[in-house]
Amino acid sequence: MSPSLIPQCVRTADGSLTLKDADCAETYHSTFGALTESQVVFLQNSGVEERLRQQRPTRIFEVGFGTGMNFLLSATAALAYRCAINYTSVENRLLPRESISTILRDTFPDAHDSIQATEHTIAKTRNQQQSPGASQINQYTQLTLLLQDALQTDCGTATFDAIYLDAFSSKNNPLLWQASYLEKLHSMLAVEGVLATYSVNRSFRDALTVSGFDWKKHRGPPGKREVLTAWRRQ
Ligand SMILES: C[S@@+](CC[C@H](N)C(=O)[O-])C[C@H]1O[C@@H](n2cnc3c(N)ncnc32)[C@H](O)[C@@H]1O
Repeated sequence: MSPSLIPQCVRTADGSLTLKDADCAETYHSTFGALTESQVVFLQNSGVEERLRQQRPTRIFEVGFGTGMNFLLSATAALAYRCAINYTSVENRLLPRESISTILRDTFPDAHDSIQATEHTIAKTRNQQQSPGASQINQYTQLTLLLQDALQTDCGTATFDAIYLDAFSSKNNPLLWQASYLEKLHSMLAVEGVLATYSVNRSFRDALTVSGFDWKKHRGPPGKREVLTAWRRQ
């Protein structure tokens, strides 16, 4: 990433930090509360927190690793509930190390060891220009970071209990919100799995329906009236 494209840090309304993308001017999380959005839209709405509370090991697939906030939040929950997660995240444009470190260290001041392990995995992925495979981040968390375009991801027959669809807006990134891509996510979701995201726009909801999902709107976190979850139509 050239120096002129280094993303700028933004303090959001709940006190947590996020970044503003220099290209599309979108923030990586909501300016009304980055951590709150991550907690409500992804960890809670996806059912991941409830599964961990019930001691059910959980496989998560994320579209857009970004700052790593969703990941570290999930890893911290796995540790708190003492229940395993297997987290696979795809990212086509890894942020500079300093940007990710600034966000994670500010947001999770007690997660020093997990952050160091995450930084190590990111560095290895960046150096090899490919995934080094699954890395142990804390006692209960494995991370597989895929450095590639999400449209090209092939997870074979692997399925996931939760999908975090967090890939910038459909305005700036339309391909990841269309039926051709959602069909792929549908095939990756376990029978009782949940896809969680912030978009509720009409064309996205129609594309979900066409791709074989049922969906439901939920009350959103501050700054977003509604968000959405989707699951495989029976
Ligand atoms: C909203 S941010 C993700 C925020 C992230 N989940 C977090 O917790 O910080 C969107 C991310 O999706 C990535 N992205 C956008 N299009 C992509 C694609 N086609 N394949 C892989 N990653 C993509 C961007 O580079 C960016 O890092």
